[in-house]
Order: sequence, then structure tokens, then C-alpha cells
Amino acid sequence: MQSSVRECFVRLTVLASVRMVYANNGTAAYGMNITYNLSWAPHHLGTWPVCDIKSEDQEQMPVEESGNMLIMIAAVARKQGKSSTAWLKSYWPLLKTWADFLITSLPDPGNQLCTDDFEGPNPHNVNLAAKGIVALGAYAQLLEMDGQASEAQKYLAKAEGFAASWEEKAKDGDHFRRQYDLPNTWSQKYNLIWQKLLGLSLFKDSVFQQESAEYEKHREAYGIPLDDRHNYTKADWSMWSAAFGSKETFKATVDSLWTFANSTPDRAPFTDFFDTITGRLKGMRARPVMGGIFIGLLTQSEEVVVV
Ligand SMILES: *[C@@H]1O[C@H](CO)[C@@H](O)[C@H](O)[C@H]1NC(C)=O
Ligand SMILES: *[C@@H]1O[C@H](CO)[C@@H](O)[C@H](O)[C@H]1NC(C)=O
Ligand SMILES: *[C@@H]1O[C@H](CO)[C@@H](O)[C@H](O)[C@H]1NC(C)=O
Ligand SMILES: *[C@@H]1O[C@H](CO)[C@@H](O)[C@H](O)[C@H]1NC(C)=O
Repeated sequence: MQSSVRECFVRLTVLASVRMVYANNGTAAYGMNITYNLSWAPHHLGTWPVCDIKSEDQEQMPVEESGNMLIMIAAVARKQGKSSTAWLKSYWPLLKTWADFLITSLPDPGNQLCTDDFEGPNPHNVNLAAKGIVALGAYAQLLEMDGQASEAQKYLAKAEGFAASWEEKAKDGDHFRRQYDLPNTWSQKYNLIWQKLLGLSLFKDSVFQQESAEYEKHREAYGIPLDDRHNYTKADWSMWSAAFGSKETFKATVDSLWTFANSTPDRAPFTDFFDTITGRLKGMRARPVMGGIFIGLLTQSEEVVVV
């Protein structure tokens, strides 16, 4: 178990570092010389193994990717324990650019792409906003770890203010909306798990409890749909949402996923995208994102030194 957690953090560190070199105009050292001029984190780097995409050819997911980077870097730094910010030395201006961009985009990220836009357009996306807010909290943690206490306080206060505003604007009776502007909607707020994994306290405990209770109302034979728009779901994000629920809801989601894998009529490599009623594959097969189903491992508390 411990070695899987270590392996997971080694991979996260490599992933974070490559993106940071690219976004920091650092590719010349590797024979590329690409300049990246956007104020948010890149969505992609090129076609593996060549990192050569130009800024103007990026598919933009500004809040999603800036949030991903700040959350991932904070998760790695926290696992490393003391002196864990030394590897960030050349990157503070870049991280600040991303955090400041998030501040301009919150609490409502408006109309932009996000990682689950295969569901359809989703402006005023509440789950995406949650990622940005948690990421600002993550950035505050990084500053704090680096001894930049007053900066940390400034960003934490912003994150707290946005979380309070999110709770007010997204409330829909006993749960929270999919879009700020759409009453009678719901969605899995799988991004909220990072508040728990980073030990932040931006959103109230009641948010997690009310959301979990809402998801249970929609459980089908093979799991809980991603949101109110379709019957299909994502294996990885369902596990993220389950990981902030009770032991019972976590187990119920593991059981649903097992039932799906054990009874789908499709003879295909394990998919992250399937129908919760029919158990049929919707399209994606054996993707690296399936690592997300192991999110429960990240709740372990030991430090893992990987640099
Ligand atoms: C990188 O490209 C810029 C602009 O084209 C050029 O001025 C610079 O000399 C190049 N640097 C390297 C290390 O090739
Ligand atoms: C990288 O170069 C671009 C183009 O000159 C510039 O806009 C951007 O600010 C640079 N990024 C960093 C992190 O220095
Ligand atoms: C980034 O650089 C490209 C290529 O030079 C340019 O077309 C684009 O307008 C620049 N974007 C920003 C935000 O400066
Ligand atoms: C889910 O499937 C049921 C049964 O086929 C259908 O009646 C319902 O409209 C579907 N729901 C959505 C949100 O597509």
C-alpha cells in the first residue's frame, strides 16, 4: 500500500514539473524554445513525447487547469513534509499568476470549457467554481509552507469569501445546483474532495453531507449519474465524490462500480465512462484517468519524500 502511494506521488511530481517547465518558458534547456504567454495553466503540452504546442493552439480550460496545478502541487508539497517548497523556487511568479487569475474568475467562472464538457455546455459551473476555490486555499497553504505568511493570509481570506458566496449562490433547497443560474439541478461536486485531502476548511461540513445525501437519491444499478443531464457517469469522479461521503456511501459506490465491471455486456478494457442504468460503455477505454478510482489511498497520512 505504502509503495503505491509513493509511486502515485512520484508520478504527480513529474507531471507537475513538466508542465511548470513548459509554462515557465523553460523548454529551451530541452532544445525546444517555446514561449507560453497565457495567464492560466496550459491544458496540454503537445503529442507525447514531444512537448511543442504553441500558446495559441491550446484548448483553453483556464480555471480547470490552473486549479489542477495548484491543487496537485500543494498535495505533493504536503506529502513531502518539511522544506517541501524548495523545488518551487523558480516558479513562485508563475504560481502567483495562476492564483491571481483564479481570483478574477471566482466565484462564478462564467462560460468556459471544463473537463466534463462532454456532458454539454455548462456556464456558471458550480463544481468548476469549487475547484478554483479549493485551489486558492491550496495556494495559500503553499505560501504558508514557504514562510510567506502574510501573502498566505491574503489568499486564504479570498478563498474563504468565495466559499461563503458559493454556498449562498449555489444553494437549491437541500443541496447545491449544477449551475448557479439553474434551479432544480444537481451535479456531483467531485472537486470538493480536495478540500478534505488538503485538510482545508473553506466549505462547511454540511455542504459535504447535503451533497452526499443528494447523490444517493439518484443511485441506479451501476452507480450515480454525473449530473441531471444524462444517465451516464464517470468511474473516477464517482469515487472522488464517494470519498467525501460516509463509509456506507463510499462502500455503495465501490459496490456499484464492481457490479458494473462484473456485469457490463461490453467486452472492452475497463472504461471510465458508462451508463448507470444499462451498464453499457459510452466510449473511453483503459485511460490513465482510471488512477482516480484509487483516491481513497490519498487519505493516508504518512509523509512521502519523492524529490
Ligand atoms: C528562443 O526564441 C527567441 C525568439 O524567437 C530567440 O530570440 C531566442 O534566441 C531563442 N533562444 C534559444 C535558446 O534558442
Ligand atoms: C514567457 O514568455 C512570454 C512571451 O514573451 C511572456 O509573455 C511570459 O510572461 C513569459 N512567462 C514567464 C513565466 O516568464
Ligand atoms: C501569445 O502569443 C501569440 C503568438 O505570438 C499571439 O498570437 C497571442 O496574441 C499572444 N497572446 C497573448 C495573450 O499575449
Ligand atoms: C435515464 O433513462 C431513463 C430510462 O431509459 C429515461 O427515462 C430518462 O429520461 C433518462 N434520464 C436522462 C437524464 O437522460
